[in-house]
Amino acid sequence: MKIIRLLTLAGLLTVLIGTLPALAGDECIACHKDPKFKVQNPKLFYYYEDFENSVHGVAGLGCSDCHGGDASTTDMKAAHVDVLKPVAFDRVPDTCGECHEQQHDTFVTSKHYKILEDDGTAPNCVTCHGAMEMDFIFVTRVKNTCAFCHNRETGNMPEVPDRADYVLNKINIMKGYRSFVNTYAEDQVEAKALETGYADLVARWHRFDLSQVETDVKALLGDYRKAKAQAMKDRRHK
Ligand code: HEC
Ligand code: HEC
Ligand code: HEC
Ligand code: HEC
Ligand code: HEC
Repeated sequence: MKIIRLLTLAGLLTVLIGTLPALAGDECIACHKDPKFKVQNPKLFYYYEDFENSVHGVAGLGCSDCHGGDASTTDMKAAHVDVLKPVAFDRVPDTCGECHEQQHDTFVTSKHYKILEDDGTAPNCVTCHGAMEMDFIFVTRVKNTCAFCHNRETGNMPEVPDRADYVLNKINIMKGYRSFVNTYAEDQVEAKALETGYADLVARWHRFDLSQVETDVKALLGDYRKAKAQAMKDRRHK
């Protein structure tokens, strides 16, 4: 028991440092990664594969970091106690928020969060980020989700899906420039300033301040584009 706790702690440290591969001693992973499931229960197996290749899998998280349960036992029943509760639709923001406080705290100020609490229908973190397969934002999927409520029949801001599509595509392009700039720019002071702009943009998005986001995303994309061009020059001169 104690050893497992220590291992879990080591796992958390690993997560913080972000270097070592998934922790050993996590019985959830040990069992779920068994290739026999590929035949016995393919859906379950693909859940594992999605997780393994996700940003969280790579960072060394364990299943129980989101699902709870008992990661120290090889007994399936004992391990599985309440594993679906933390991922219930209206509980997701709090579960993710344990590690992503900033996004959580802005998201809970939105109208959507109120709706989510009242009747469990509004978009939550998983709507946009995916759950196990978390990687990048799938724009079309997100857009379709918005259109579920924001459409002509409901009359509730039917222009939202197209506006979201516009912004998300720009953000996806910007993320490419951003990682290039952060890696190669000689002027890291400017890169830091751009990062602050990016963080503000993402925070505004998480509270669904769409009008401001539309304005900001255009300006910031331009700035990143210029910074990327400069960084390419810097690289060539090295
Ligand atoms: C000894 C093997 C084993 C261990 C240990 C294990 N699981 Fe599972 N898990 C399974 C199998 C097999 C399934 C398929 C569903 C079933 O048969 O109940 C499953 C299903 C699940 C599901 C879907 C549940 C549902 O009702 O749809 C979740 C979530 C899950 N496991 C998470 C975990 C977590 C978190 C842990 C560790 C705390 C864990 N598992 C430990 C074998 C295991
Ligand atoms: C970053 C958080 C996170 C981690 C880590 C994580 N999961 Fe999940 N998982 C979720 C969320 C959220 C859902 C609910 C998905 C939804 O609502 O679409 C989910 C759903 C599932 C399901 C489908 C349950 C059902 O019946 O709907 C299974 C199976 C599962 N997870 C197993 C695992 C296993 C096994 C691991 C470790 C290998 C793991 N998860 C790691 C967040 C996570
Ligand atoms: C136990 C802590 C933990 C939990 C719980 C958790 N995450 Fe993460 N998350 C991390 C770590 C660690 C990283 C990788 C390092 C980083 O980029 O911050 C990460 C990365 C991410 C990223 C990519 C960030 C980037 O910089 O591109 C997103 C998006 C994300 N998580 C969303 C979620 C969502 C949504 C949930 C809930 C379903 C969740 N996380 C639950 C720890 C956690
Ligand atoms: C309506 C869609 C949407 C919802 C809902 C949403 N996000 Fe995001 N999130 C985004 C977009 C767009 C970005 C910026 C692009 C990216 O990082 O992929 C982002 C970025 C992030 C990042 C990375 C931040 C960074 O600075 O790189 C984390 C972590 C994150 N979100 C966590 C969460 C959590 C936790 C929740 C729920 C409380 C949540 N998100 C809800 C769309 C969403
Ligand atoms: C389950 C229904 C539902 C879904 C799905 C949904 N919304 Fe909403 N949204 C609402 C409701 C209800 C309101 C509140 C309208 C009002 O105040 O009259 C709202 C309000 C908004 C607002 C205005 C926010 C404000 O503070 O005034 C924006 C922007 C918005 N949604 C964007 C989105 C985006 C982007 C998506 C897709 C990621 C989305 N919505 C998905 C139901 C939904």
